[in-house]
Amino acid sequence: TKTQNQLLVIFGASGDLTARKLIPAILNLAKGGHLPENFVVLGASRSSWSDEEFRKNVITESKHLKEKLVDEDKKFIAEFTARMFYHELSSAEDTDYSKLNKRITQLDSEHDTEGNFIFYLSVPPSAHEMISNNLHKQGLHKEDKGWRRLIVEKPFGYDLKTAKELNATLQRYFKESQIYRIDHYLGKETVQNLLVTRFANSIFEPLWNRNYIHYVEITNAESGGVEKRGGYYDKSGALRDMFQSHLLQIVALIVMEPPLSADAEQIRNEKLKALKSLRIMTDEKTLHENTIRAQYISSVIDGKKVNGYREEEGVDADSTTETYAALKFFVDNWRWADVPFYVRTAKRMPTKVTEVVIHFKSPHHQIFKDSGMDQKDNKLIIRIQPDEGVLIKFGVKVPGQGFKVERANLDFYYSSLTETHVMEAYERLLLDAMQGDPTLYARADEVEAAWAFVDPILDYWKDNEDVRVYGYSAGVWGPENADELIEGIGRWRNPGS
Ligand code: BG6
Repeated sequence: TKTQNQLLVIFGASGDLTARKLIPAILNLAKGGHLPENFVVLGASRSSWSDEEFRKNVITESKHLKEKLVDEDKKFIAEFTARMFYHELSSAEDTDYSKLNKRITQLDSEHDTEGNFIFYLSVPPSAHEMISNNLHKQGLHKEDKGWRRLIVEKPFGYDLKTAKELNATLQRYFKESQIYRIDHYLGKETVQNLLVTRFANSIFEPLWNRNYIHYVEITNAESGGVEKRGGYYDKSGALRDMFQSHLLQIVALIVMEPPLSADAEQIRNEKLKALKSLRIMTDEKTLHENTIRAQYISSVIDGKKVNGYREEEGVDADSTTETYAALKFFVDNWRWADVPFYVRTAKRMPTKVTEVVIHFKSPHHQIFKDSGMDQKDNKLIIRIQPDEGVLIKFGVKVPGQGFKVERANLDFYYSSLTETHVMEAYERLLLDAMQGDPTLYARADEVEAAWAFVDPILDYWKDNEDVRVYGYSAGVWGPENADELIEGIGRWRNPGS
């Protein structure tokens, strides 16, 4: 697909995400020859920067790029930065937006970007309405000359109610087909590979149901804490920050029925159905027995003190916000009836890892019962990150007399495909939006269905002293109570330990 000439306006251009993810992704796209001939970035933000300062802060002197830039990049960088501009946007006033409009129009005509504009909202959700409204007032949503697209960063709302309001707001000013809600997990190759594993192989899909699958386990662990984002995180927590978005998107890809084709709407229709089939926990008993929240406490790692969550900058000293969440839930449809899903996400774990484990049922009739191997052990492990790949665990005969069965691994690593440059999530997603492909973006109804599942849990946890907030030390796999959740069926697979 050809990428058309275009102008990308980044709102929140002086913020962390721009320097950390967006600009490096755009640079990589440029290096890989994916950008169109005429391409301009216009950063817009409160900071009073000049074009030069913008270029310096996010490229030439950016701590996120410094070590990565090699000498041969220098000439290329000089050409690239010449296409980057900055506009100070100090208020929400019409006059300010009309100045921005003028700047956009001027850059568009000087650089021949043909009226094709992407507006990237890398700003807190409280600013979404104001910016989209202003763009609308300026007529910048109208696609009479070129096309117009709006990329929105999460969080998409704070709960179901606010997510609906946000969707309604955005749809007041832009058509749904112009709105791209970014969930960077969908940009990860290994997440997309869930679709290929299932629907391009006749060895998996026939087994992908309640007849053969015992249970599904998903772990998302980060070794870092909340870093500098305490202020945001304390109002959010693991369930909102990771679960409602990234993890439920992964769940949807595991649960969904085969789409008619790989077309964006077909895939998104099936994902929506999948999300709607998650059993919503309503009564207190179910919520009590199937949800666990916890917080990391201050600990010592390698002789160094690590702050507890409540000591982090921007975090309330008696905060009950969870940095660990584990849930057990069911999916109410034909394919998945009675198959439990165990999903957990947390910060300050022993390692950074995300993986999906499909645990298969043991053979219906076991003839090697006394062989020493637990025959329930067939597993398909999809390593989302790091060591991206797919691992199958299966039984083989131990050479020698009798039938002793041992577990063997069939292991595929993406890194063995050395000739392919695996695009970073943001790189891939930005390129898709530039080309008008929304397949890997979340649709309004999907986001709402995900909130509908998470909302009752948030309500149950909120201000409820009966729901304990367990503590766990940094560097362990969460509170011990989380083991009870999965006991009876198995144990959490703790990758790397
Ligand atoms: C973000 C969350 O969406 O995803 C962060 O807001 C989290 O809290 C991050 O650290 C994890 O992303 P990744 O790609 O590093 O797994």
